[in-house]
Amino acid sequence: MASDSRADLKTGTLTLDGKTYSFPIRWGTSGPPVMDVGKLYGTTRIFTYDPGFSSTASAESKITYIDGDNGVLLHRGYAIEDLVAHGDFLETCYLLFYGSLPTPAQKADFDNRVTRHTMVHEQMARLYHGIRRDAHPMAVMVGVVGALSAFYHDSIDISDPHQRMVASMRMIAKLPTIAAMAYKYSRGEPFVYPKNDLPYAANFLHMCFSVPFEEYRVNPVLARAMDQIFILHADNEQGASTSTVRLAGSSGANPFACIAAGIACLWGPAHGGAHEAVIKQLAQIETKKRVPEFVARAKDPEDSFRLMGFGHRVYKAYDPRAKLMRQICHDVLKETRADDPLLEIAEELERVALADEYFIEKRLYPNLDFYAGLTLRAMGFPPSLFTAVFALARTAGWIAHWMEMIADPHQKIGRPRQLYTGYARREYVPIGRRD
Ligand code: CMC
Repeated sequence: MASDSRADLKTGTLTLDGKTYSFPIRWGTSGPPVMDVGKLYGTTRIFTYDPGFSSTASAESKITYIDGDNGVLLHRGYAIEDLVAHGDFLETCYLLFYGSLPTPAQKADFDNRVTRHTMVHEQMARLYHGIRRDAHPMAVMVGVVGALSAFYHDSIDISDPHQRMVASMRMIAKLPTIAAMAYKYSRGEPFVYPKNDLPYAANFLHMCFSVPFEEYRVNPVLARAMDQIFILHADNEQGASTSTVRLAGSSGANPFACIAAGIACLWGPAHGGAHEAVIKQLAQIETKKRVPEFVARAKDPEDSFRLMGFGHRVYKAYDPRAKLMRQICHDVLKETRADDPLLEIAEELERVALADEYFIEKRLYPNLDFYAGLTLRAMGFPPSLFTAVFALARTAGWIAHWMEMIADPHQKIGRPRQLYTGYARREYVPIGRRD
């Protein structure tokens, strides 16, 4: 990593009302220095104000590092490109959970332990039938994953590392089953039980696309693509949904309920919901010829329209996940021998936007979501399921962060403060005396 010219910086000072206060500067392994303002209010009676966390580190973590200026994503120090090229999703899960790559024996044991938990309690299947059939799969995911907390009382003792790991395994194992059941329910098709002789991603495809009355063979190219898609979604540092899981978990809440909170946050179009929004937008653009019209709208300060799948709070260069996803998209389309007119529009949109001064100046590049929806569509998933696929893969990262937080002896409940701009104290007037 590039060295920082401020490497000697140990403290930062703040002058308020003629008085100078010092605060420690902390240096991570990589990334800019961080001023520790934990004692700011106690010593100065002043808070910081940073509602979108634009300049605030909310956690100390050893899991994932993003160098947004150079388009780098590392999990436990390993580049996303290497994990996608050489490993599989369960290896990435192991890495996120335990901090190192598994040996062959550790990997076999881990895969086996996850596989043994793929089935959900039969009573859970009945839960689906209480939900409207046309419900969005993310609504189903929030409810059903939240309901897992009612099924596993033994995971409640979160002070026990063993129970934490068992709960984590269960979530990794059951999320594909739950997402596939949400899909089947929306189609009015029978649920398909997991098949434990299939690898993780292939099993997910089997649960989504097989029907009881026909032989279903998982296409190995699509299964590999599915696995790579899972790896690309596994973690992305302190994104909104990960921060939600951490905040929910900071009170000591049930981990299954915390993951449900993460799923709720992920659903929004500024986050994982962008997968679906990108496809809707590409369909709205309709033809390559109309790309300039939509780019012009995205630049217009009077128009709230944004290019979905563009921009990121941290990546100010090409999102490395988007680069990999674009390649996977082409691989899938080649395998399925299909053409997608929306891909043509997407590539034209990228070409026009990346050459445009507005996008260059604001450093807006395609993000993971830009090609993810197209890839999942090419694999046969409907847009409404895209974010559920994101959720099942991101569960790995959410859990890793939750476990890291709970194991931290300095962990405290998350409790932001506010800049209050409401009424000062007012005199209460009984209802009979109000005009
Ligand atoms: N199209 C047009 N202009 C944009 C876009 C866009 N997609 N994204 C940001 N801008 C402009 C924005 O208008 C603002 O301009 P100005 O400084 O003149 O007000 C500037 O760029 C900075 O934007 P911001 O909203 O302050 O940036 P942010 O870091 O708060 O938001 C973002 C990041 C991802 C929410 C935003 O870029 C966005 O809404 N993108 C579209 C939705 C999307 O693709 N979301 C997926 C995010 S990545 C994967 C994930 O987390 O799930």
